[in-house]
This record gives sequence, structure tokens and C-alpha cells, in this order.
Amino acid sequence: MDIKALVAQMTLEEKAGLCSGADFWHTKAVERLGIPATMVSDGPHGLRKQDQAADHLGVNDSIEAVCFPAACATAASFDRDLLRRMGEAIGDSCQHEQLSVVLGPAVNIKRSPLCGRNFEYFSEDPYLTGEAAASFIEGVQSRNVGTSIKHFAANNQEHRRMSSSSDVDERTLREIYFPGFETPVKRAKPWTVMCSYNRINGVYASENRWLLTDVLRNEWGFDGYVMSDWGAVSNRPAGVAAGLDLEMPSSNGVNDKKIVEAVKAGKLAEADVDLACERILNIVYRYVENAKPDTPWDMEAQHALAADIAAECMVLLKNEDAILPLSKADSIAFIGEFAQKPRFQGGGSSHIHCFKTTSALEAAKGLNIIYAQGYDVAADAATDDMIAEAVAAAKAAKVAVVFAGLPDAYESEGYDRSHMRMPECQVKLIEAVAEANPNTVVVLHNGSPVEMPWLDKVKGVLEAYLGGQAVGIALVKVLFGDVNPCGHLPESFPIKLEDNPSYLYYSGEPRGTEYREGVFVGYRYYDKKKMDVLFPFGHGLSYTSFEYSNLRLSADCIRDTDALTVTVTVKNTGSRAGKAVAQLYVGDVEGDVIRPVRELKGYEKVELQAGEAKDVTFTLDKRAFAYWNTTLHDWHVETGDFTIEVGASSRDLPVCARVRVESTVKVPVHYDADSVFMDIMKDPKAVEAIRPLIDAMNATFRHEYDQDSAAKEAITDDMNDAMMNYMPLRGVLSFGGLPGEVLEEILRKLNG
Ligand code: BGC
Repeated sequence: MDIKALVAQMTLEEKAGLCSGADFWHTKAVERLGIPATMVSDGPHGLRKQDQAADHLGVNDSIEAVCFPAACATAASFDRDLLRRMGEAIGDSCQHEQLSVVLGPAVNIKRSPLCGRNFEYFSEDPYLTGEAAASFIEGVQSRNVGTSIKHFAANNQEHRRMSSSSDVDERTLREIYFPGFETPVKRAKPWTVMCSYNRINGVYASENRWLLTDVLRNEWGFDGYVMSDWGAVSNRPAGVAAGLDLEMPSSNGVNDKKIVEAVKAGKLAEADVDLACERILNIVYRYVENAKPDTPWDMEAQHALAADIAAECMVLLKNEDAILPLSKADSIAFIGEFAQKPRFQGGGSSHIHCFKTTSALEAAKGLNIIYAQGYDVAADAATDDMIAEAVAAAKAAKVAVVFAGLPDAYESEGYDRSHMRMPECQVKLIEAVAEANPNTVVVLHNGSPVEMPWLDKVKGVLEAYLGGQAVGIALVKVLFGDVNPCGHLPESFPIKLEDNPSYLYYSGEPRGTEYREGVFVGYRYYDKKKMDVLFPFGHGLSYTSFEYSNLRLSADCIRDTDALTVTVTVKNTGSRAGKAVAQLYVGDVEGDVIRPVRELKGYEKVELQAGEAKDVTFTLDKRAFAYWNTTLHDWHVETGDFTIEVGASSRDLPVCARVRVESTVKVPVHYDADSVFMDIMKDPKAVEAIRPLIDAMNATFRHEYDQDSAAKEAITDDMNDAMMNYMPLRGVLSFGGLPGEVLEEILRKLNG
């Protein structure tokens, strides 16, 4: 299909029309030219395809589909292959349902535990987010249907989500909030990108040319179309000029007209409208030419896959006295309504109409289970009778498992949480059960961290996150040891909400939110401040144990253009098979730039039989050592030593090595009279330039000082040197008694 030729045949009105949806879910057809409509659908962890009444909040019904674990869970798998397989299954469903694009993955960073939509997002870490999203996209798109990576960018809260400005500095955007998009755009080439509702530093994402064109297309090479989030358009002509190709769902013609008027008035180049149409049609035809509506959709097989995936995502947070796995021979109490009706997905546009669900209670049929409801989710309360029944069940069982977490209303698209607590009735229940039976385990269903005031009273905690419609099957497999847990936390669990670095500024009023914590998001902050956390980033236990040893680097010293290979041996030292997640963190030891202590730059999941050992290899390139330099507006490595730490979590890093990385790029420096000696002395060339000045200073000031024993007593040489560090060059006029021409001459040399 010659897309350019096709666009050339369209009238301005037809082109403007193509730049918005026909309805809630379709691009427009142009019958005159045989251009077909295509359908898009939510996303991200299954299909929410609406045949009838449409909405973007998950209110009206959609077709029956399969709900896979949400991103909060799949990120915990630290497993690229798993994400790819899930993507493939969703891609097949899209082909079956004739959907051109699935609206996901959602990759915004979990900046605060409060964001109502955290369950749909992967992690607090940009590297993990980028890797997980890229794998998911590769999976979906291997089926010749598209994805829409969303919500670009800095959409980290629901509070005032359609108008709020996310005020973020350049370095923080680049290091924290962009890589979740950048890596997938570069590696997996999503067909579409969805821009976010919010403004970024005052400019709506939907009309932000720097974001949608300079960064996304020109720097990262994105070649698909950008669509708006549903209703994210404020100024449509400005959006077209900025690089927003498709407005969704539509403005019922109002904005199409504005595009036409703007072109006619010479305020918008028709070439920009043409370009938007070309980009939309490229993707329309990419789908149409590869459509395979006869692709089977085996929902039962996908239900089983959803269960397998969920099991790989569960994080064993605590396992005192090896309380887990449970024995199938023992009598076990399942307590809490979530055992019967699990919370396995979140509310809003990602809400899936499941063709079936399996609860833990159902999956455990045939085992010796005593069930007690414990609390009423709808009423968010536990009566005395419920607690008494739960206590009796706990007493009658060898081990009590309490199914707890956040009810639907506690976290959802559209609004944020106001605290990090679990429902009071559940806390009361856990405490009562733990008192009745010291062998108590808590299973958690939540999309984001919760406070755990009861943690010391229970022996085990299993974080199931929102594990999809088959979560019950996965839970029973993990609880009873058919699957060895291998998930790791994709986020830190702070002890209390106030510990979170965004706490003071989150939400922001009334204009927006300032990201004042900068790059210190999640563990980057807790580690820098050496703070205790409830559970650190990357934490996750297993029913076996692993040992890390023999860390080897391919070189002790590299240039920033070289790759470094890191190899470590991981051994299963326990008595059953299991999967370890080897995590690699890099830290800058001696740079001048304020940076986190360590940052995740590699991970590999490795399966090991009891007693087996395997080498795991990572390859690190410049980005693993670089920070975003705001003078260069580029990634930069400061020459110096870096730590390479490997282990099982951000706070369990038993093997460590150092590498020296030498920069091949010089950051340009401009010296002026206010430049201080300390900075100048770092640059050998500059030192040469100011040598005469230093000599002259020594000859006067220094000489006098050396002769003056009282002065020498008052100020030691070291003190003197330290004070000189901060002396600006102009100080030589006041303190060195040198003529102004000397300073001018020196500055000429320094900048020459
Ligand atoms: C959400 C998007 C979603 C869209 C369509 C919006 O409210 O932010 O994530 O894809 O609706 O349902």
C-alpha cells in the first residue's frame, strides 16, 4: 500500500477526520478510498473489548476474556520470557477478536504507594520497567497486532490526573520516568504510544512537541502513531503540530473542524496533518494486511497459562521456621473472604470480564481445608461472630492462612489512596488469628505496598499482588510447595507512608506536583538515607537457598564505549529445585554528581536443581554507568571507580567487584571570574593555565603567611588549603593584590 499516495488523495476534511476516532474504540474508515476502520481495546493484562456501550472506566460490560496477572505482579517475576509468553497469548486473542492494537503496557513509575493505578504499573525502577514492558510488547507484536505503551509521560498519580502538571527536572525525567518508555521503543518498537492526560512542566503531554517529536521520534526512533489517552486533548491543532496523530476517542467533530480552520488560517501546516495521517494509516494497514481472524482463542489454555504466570510472580516475603510450604496431610484453615473471592484485578479501564475465575478455596478442593469468611469485603467490616468463627478455625488447624489485602475501593484508576493501611477489620482479624494459632501465614492481594503492623505476629507472608483470574490455582501450588516461589519485589515496601521520598510533595496543589525527590525514587532514596524498610526492593524468598560466588569481570578498567561482561556463579544450596533472580546493581564510587548508592542494571532468572550451580552472565554498556548530564543533554560517565554488586535483593548483595570506567567525552566547562579554585584544579589543562597565578599568589600571600608564625598557628596549612578551595578566581584581586589584566589574561587562557 502506497500510504503517501493514499493521503494525497484525501481532502483536508477527510484528513482532519482521520486524526480522531470514529467512536470510542475505532479509527475512522474513509469509504470513498476504501480505507477501513480498525479497532483498539484495553489492555493491558487481557482484553476489555466492548461490543455494546462503551466507556473508558470499566463501567459497562465487555466480552468475556482472560484476565492475566496485572503488571504489579508480572514485574515481580523478573522474567522476560514469561512476559513475552503472556504477550503472545494476548496477541493471539487480539487477532481472534480483530483488534489492531491492545492498549498497554502501562509503564509509569510507582513513585508513591498512593497512586491508585499502581497495580497497572510495573515498578519503582526504570530498568525493570523497561525490560518487562519490552518483553511484553515483543510477545504481543510477534502476533502482528500492535501495542500502545502508556501513559507517556510522568503520569504517576490519579489525583487531578486530567489537568495536573508533573513538574520534573530534566535529569530525573531521563533517568527515572523515561527509560520505561525508551527501552521498549528502541528494542521492541511498539506500534503506538499513548500520551498521558497530565501536563509535563506545564505543557500538556498531548501538545508537547519536545516529548512527542524531539524525544520520542527524533531521539528514540519511534515510527508508529501517537494516540491521546481518552479525552486528553486540550488544544487539538497544537497537538497535531506537536506530533499527536490520533485523538481518542473523538470530540464529535469539534476538534477535526479546528484542525481544518487552523490549516486554512495558516496556523497549522497541512504537511503536519498529512504526516499524522500517514502514521495512522501505516499502522492501520500493518494490521489489516496481517489480520488472522481465524486465530483460535483457547480460553481454557490461557486460564492455565494465567495460573502458571501468577505462580511465577508470587513473592515470599517472610517464612519463619519454614512455615511454608504447607503439608497436604495437615488440616489448614483458609480465613478471609479473599480465599473464596480473590481480589485479582484492579478497577477502571483495565477491568476484565473474566470467563471464569478460580479461588484458592476452589483450587484446594480435596485437601483438608477449614474455611472461615473472616470479614465482609463489601461492608469492609468484620463482625464479632466472623472473628470468633475465624479464631475457632485457626485453633482447629495446624496452620492458619489469612487471605487479606486491599478491597477494590481502596485502589483504582481515577483516584489515589489517602493512606497505606489495610482495612482495619483485616488487621484485627490477622491479629486475632495469630493469637489463636502461632502458625499463621498471611496471603496478600494488593497492587501496591501496605503497612503491616501485624508482621511480627505471623510466621509467613506471601505477596500475591493482583494475580489474575487463575490466582487461586497459583496460590495453592505455591502454598503447598508444588511450585517453589521465585518472585521478587519490584518495589520497596516502606515501613510507613511518611518514609516514602515523595511523601511531602505527592499530589501537589492546586497546579500540579513537584517531583522534588528527583532521582531518589524508591530504593534509590532508602539506600542513600540508610533507612530501614519493611521489605527492600528485589527481596523474595524461596523454599530452597542460593549462594552467590566467584564474581568475575572481563576487565578491571574500560572506556565508556566498551562493554563489560560480568559473570557470577549461583548455586542452589538447598534440597529442592528453585529459581534464583540474580540482580546486578551498579554504583558510582567517586563521581562528583549526586547519585544513588546503587541502581539495578541487570537481572537474570535462573532455574537450579538441588545442589546445581550455574554461571550467570551480564553485559553492561555505557548506560549502566551513566547519569544524564544537563550540560551535554546526554548520558555521561564520570571517570572513576564503580561498584558491581550481585545478589538476591537490593539489600542482599554478597558479591562485589570494582571496575574503573574512563570517559571518552569531555563536558565543556566555561570559566569566569566566579569559578573557584577547587573546580579549576580538577582539570590538569586548567591548572597549567593558572600556574602563573598560583605562583604569583604564592610569591605574595603565601610568602607572607609562611613568615608569620602567629598566622601559621591560627591557620594550619590544611585549613589554608581547604579555604583556598572555595576561593573564586576574582579573589586574586582582593587577596592576591594582582592587577585586573592578569585575571583577564588567565581567563582567556582557561577558556582558550
Ligand atoms: C485510561 C487508559 C485507557 C483508556 C481507554 C483511560 O481512562 O487512562 O489507560 O486505555 O481510558 O479505556
